[in-house]
Amino acid sequence: MKPPLQWSAGEAQLGGVGVEQIAATCGTPLYLYDQSTFLAQLRRLRQALPEAIEIYYSVKANPNPKIISIFVERGCGCEIASGGEYVLARRAGAAPEKIVFAGPGKGREELEHVIAHGIGEIHLESFDEMALAEEFAENLGERVSVALRINPSTASGGGLLMGGQPTAFGFEEESLPEVLAGLARCPHLRLRGVHLYTGTQILDAQALLAHWRHALTIARQTAELRQEPVRTIDLGGGLGIPYFAHEKELDLEALSSGAQALVRDAHSDRWLEHSRFVVEPGRFLAGPAGLYVARARSVKSCRGTTFVVLDGGMNHNLAASGNLGQVVRRDYPIVNLSRREGAESTVVVVGPLCTPIDTLGRKVRMSSPRTGDLIAVLQSGAYGMTASPLEFLGHPTPAEVLVGAGQYEVIRAQQTGFGASRTVREQNESSLLSTEVKL
Ligand SMILES: Cc1ncc(COP(=O)(O)O)c(C=O)c1O
Repeated sequence: MKPPLQWSAGEAQLGGVGVEQIAATCGTPLYLYDQSTFLAQLRRLRQALPEAIEIYYSVKANPNPKIISIFVERGCGCEIASGGEYVLARRAGAAPEKIVFAGPGKGREELEHVIAHGIGEIHLESFDEMALAEEFAENLGERVSVALRINPSTASGGGLLMGGQPTAFGFEEESLPEVLAGLARCPHLRLRGVHLYTGTQILDAQALLAHWRHALTIARQTAELRQEPVRTIDLGGGLGIPYFAHEKELDLEALSSGAQALVRDAHSDRWLEHSRFVVEPGRFLAGPAGLYVARARSVKSCRGTTFVVLDGGMNHNLAASGNLGQVVRRDYPIVNLSRREGAESTVVVVGPLCTPIDTLGRKVRMSSPRTGDLIAVLQSGAYGMTASPLEFLGHPTPAEVLVGAGQYEVIRAQQTGFGASRTVREQNESSLLSTEVKL
């Protein structure tokens, strides 16, 4: 699934709007998001999954409230990883009971905040968190719903593994009896379910299904140990999207038939017959809709290699530079939005930072770029701007713009100066002022 770029008189358009027009108005670099692609990804997943599986959007993938609201308005819950994401999800309209909170190091303040303001489930990952949640629930005089995040004994198939090996995430599967015994000593916590999330960027439907089956087994064990039904089985996220030439789309048909069998199996079990399932994808829902667009400041040759130097790079799109966890660095799809026809060349696409790791594309084939061209990195809607070191070297932050039905909306304005909301000129003025005060 790719955003529907169209071409008119040699110029790229997204959602019926000329990209050059948006860039001229909003400044570059910028993130462009295509509303119809967000909706298409959600529709594809909704159609593939049985009704018993609810979709929760993983806010960390792209926490812009406008984007969260696209999913919330269409019935999704939210998976959050901090008190800050809780505030964003609520601002985007998420009902507290449709929010789940995971993360290996939840702090006192954020736990207290979500418990006081309402939360669907807190996914406990340690005995320390269990004790804190119990303390706050007791102070409030209420029972708080929790689930256990389990680090399974085996996991495979993902880019970045978070389970099946020593990690900080969740309780070890082998310790389930002790964890349940601990929970039994917390009268203000109500156990609703289990949660497994072991890895991201999984493109193999069978690997995902094997992981989901494992979640079912753990849910059964939990129910049997407690002699009580399990209400929620959270299967995690991790659904992948193709970034590189050799990668294929996740087979949603295979996922669909496996998921139906899984739900049938669960619902024929006396402990799980009323259980609901949750998937919490981020990348799959948000990734394909986003383009990171930057302008070529310079096209230069060095020892036979052509470099295209953009006005933004890894400071805005760390993932595309290969510095957000990839083992092998490969190029995201990159296109020249300013010229479609004409000779092609192979170039290296870099950002403006003084480090060779600020490289977005190592061997990119595109219509021969010239200074001033707009260059887009596709598949950039997830783990883009907020997963990047925006203040590194003090360049302006990118604007975020949502495009749909022939219109566009700035959903976050560009910030110039050292990642702050002030302009460079204002910053200079204030530093002059402070120098004067010092003198
Ligand atoms: C607990 C949890 N759920 C969901 C996600 C979303 O993962 P993805 O974007 O791979 O679907 C993550 C990502 O780190 C996560 O940690």
